[in-house]
Amino acid sequence: LAPITTADLRAKKHASEPIAMITAYDFPSAKLAEEAGADILLVGDSLGMVVLGYDSTLPVTMEDMVHHTKAVTRAAKRAFVVADLPFLSYHGTLEEGVKNAGRLMQEGFAKAVKMEGGVELAPLVKKCVQAGIPVMGHIGLTPQAVHQLGGYKVQGKDVESARRLVEEAEVLQEAGIFALVLECVPEELAALISSRLDIPVIGIGAGPSVDGQVLVYHDLVGYASQLKPKFVKRYAEIGDTVREAIKSYVAEVKERQFPGPEHVFHAKEEVISRLYG
Ligand code: KIV
Ligand code: NA
Repeated sequence: LAPITTADLRAKKHASEPIAMITAYDFPSAKLAEEAGADILLVGDSLGMVVLGYDSTLPVTMEDMVHHTKAVTRAAKRAFVVADLPFLSYHGTLEEGVKNAGRLMQEGFAKAVKMEGGVELAPLVKKCVQAGIPVMGHIGLTPQAVHQLGGYKVQGKDVESARRLVEEAEVLQEAGIFALVLECVPEELAALISSRLDIPVIGIGAGPSVDGQVLVYHDLVGYASQLKPKFVKRYAEIGDTVREAIKSYVAEVKERQFPGPEHVFHAKEEVISRLYG
C-alpha cells in the first residue's frame, strides 16, 4: 500500500470517508497501529503523561519529541506520521518555530507537525508551509494551556467562545493548515466547523459529525492509563493482560518453574568435565 499523503486525507473528507488517527510513541505501538490500518499516527506530546509519567504535557521537550518520533517513523511505512511541537517550542521567534518544526521532520522523519493554538499561530503556519512543512492545527481544549484554561474542560460552550473557535478554524485554514484537531467541544459546534472547512477536521471529544477521530493509544487499549474522560472508549484492557503475564512470570521464577527444559542451552559433557582438569 502506498504511503498516505495530505492530499489523500483531504480526498477522504470530500468522499465522506472517516479518517482514523491514533497516537503512537515507540516502535511497537506504531507497528501495531499501522498493521491495524490507522491512517494517521500522532506522536502526541501526550507521551509526557502516558509514557513518561508527568502529570501534564508541559515538561515534554524537543529532545523527547525527536527521540520518540524517530522510533515511530521507523515502524510506519504507510500511515502518515504527525509529531507534536511541545510546550514553548513555537512561541519565540518565527525562525525558532520553523527550526523546531523542521527538526521533527529532518531528524524525526515526521511528515507533518501539529501545534496548539488559534489566530496567533497564523504567521508561523504560513512560514512553515512556505518551508514545505505541513501543519496540523489543534484548537478547543489545548492541553498545553491547561493552567490558563483552568483544567481539562469542554470548550466553546457559550456564543462568544463558540464564535472564537469558528474564527480560529477559518483563520488557520486560510493560513495553510492541512487538517485540524478539534478537542473537547460540543458535537453541534464540531459539526458546524467541519462543514465550514475544506480541510479534514479530526475530533477527540467532538462527536461523530467530523471527518475523523483521534484517541490516545494507551486510553484506547487500556494500557496503564489512569484517566478515562467521557470521550474515551476502551477497546481492550491490555494492562490487565500484561499484569497477569508478569505475575505468572514472577511466580514461576520464585517457584523455580521458569526456565523449563525447553528454554535451556546445553554444553558438551567433556567441556564441563575438563573445565578444571
Ligand atoms: O498529544 C496528543 O495525544 C494529542 C491528541 C489528543 C490530539 O494532541
Ligand atoms: Na498533543
